[in-house]
Amino acid sequence: MIGAALADHFKALGWQVQATTRRQDQVDDNHPFLDLASPRLDLPAADVVILAAAVARIGACEKDPVATRRINVDGTLAVAEYMAGQGAHILLLSSDKAFDGTVPLRARTDTPGPACEYGRQKAAAEAGVLALGEQGAVLRLSKVVEPSLELLQDWAKDLAAGQAITPFHDLYLAPVPVELVAEVTTHIAEECAGGIYHCTGGEDRSYVDLARILAMESGYDPALIQPGSCQTADIPAAARPRYTSLEMTLEQSRWGIAAPAFEATALSIIKRK
Ligand SMILES: NC(=O)c1ccc[n+]([C@@H]2O[C@H](COP(=O)([O-])OP(=O)(O)OC[C@H]3O[C@@H](n4cnc5c(N)ncnc54)[C@H](OP(=O)(O)O)[C@@H]3O)[C@@H](O)[C@H]2O)c1
Repeated sequence: MIGAALADHFKALGWQVQATTRRQDQVDDNHPFLDLASPRLDLPAADVVILAAAVARIGACEKDPVATRRINVDGTLAVAEYMAGQGAHILLLSSDKAFDGTVPLRARTDTPGPACEYGRQKAAAEAGVLALGEQGAVLRLSKVVEPSLELLQDWAKDLAAGQAITPFHDLYLAPVPVELVAEVTTHIAEECAGGIYHCTGGEDRSYVDLARILAMESGYDPALIQPGSCQTADIPAAARPRYTSLEMTLEQSRWGIAAPAFEATALSIIKRK
């Protein structure tokens, strides 16, 4: 999702973009083949490499830590080191899950302390990219949202049909629009900035809050929102942290980019539909 959105964003800026794929039938001049499970280090030269490909599901990493670590850490760092050796600036997309989710608005200077395998893999990949010095950057993200997200599509479909939905009152997110991720990424790429950066929503609120805003703004009956609990759903404990927000003081002072308010992000989803 994010890699595709970034590729579109950079193309719109007039940049030359190559987006890798692991699907042989999609390989062409602008889509070189790359399988991070066994990367062939013959990628075309680039000024900036954005490491967006990953197994990004917490449950998948818990279930198969060995295979997913090969992709999210070993393959990712092999590409990072190879492309850095060719002179490219490297940007790794990382996650709030590098932290354990017990504290809101984590500082970029806080030491990572992940509570799940996905987070441990992200923390290991972060360390490898940061070891590249000023040539390496890490961008930690919370839940990135855009209208095409399956959950939002399902909610909209059900609400439009007058059917109840059951968002969780005890599952939290600090949503950030994919456009803001593209904006921060653009600054990092333009400046070839090294170090750690954050892009998250400004506050952690529940999925019920998100559903209520979306329903109200779209004119659906709020009674159709029937809160449930994630305790009864098949969601790994590690995927239910209380806090996912990260502080963005550096991004604010350097580029004037602040963490968006919860409502603002929810409304941006509706506006883009
Ligand atoms: N989305 C979020 O809310 C969020 C939040 C925090 C951090 N992040 C991070 O941001 C990055 C992008 O996330 P996303 O949501 O865009 O993920 P996504 O939609 O799941 O996309 C991941 C991409 O990685 C590719 N991929 C998976 N295994 C691969 C392999 N072995 N070799 C090459 N490519 C492989 C997938 O290819 P196929 O299309 O072939 O499956 C897919 O295109 C990830 O690093 C993720 O950890 C995302």
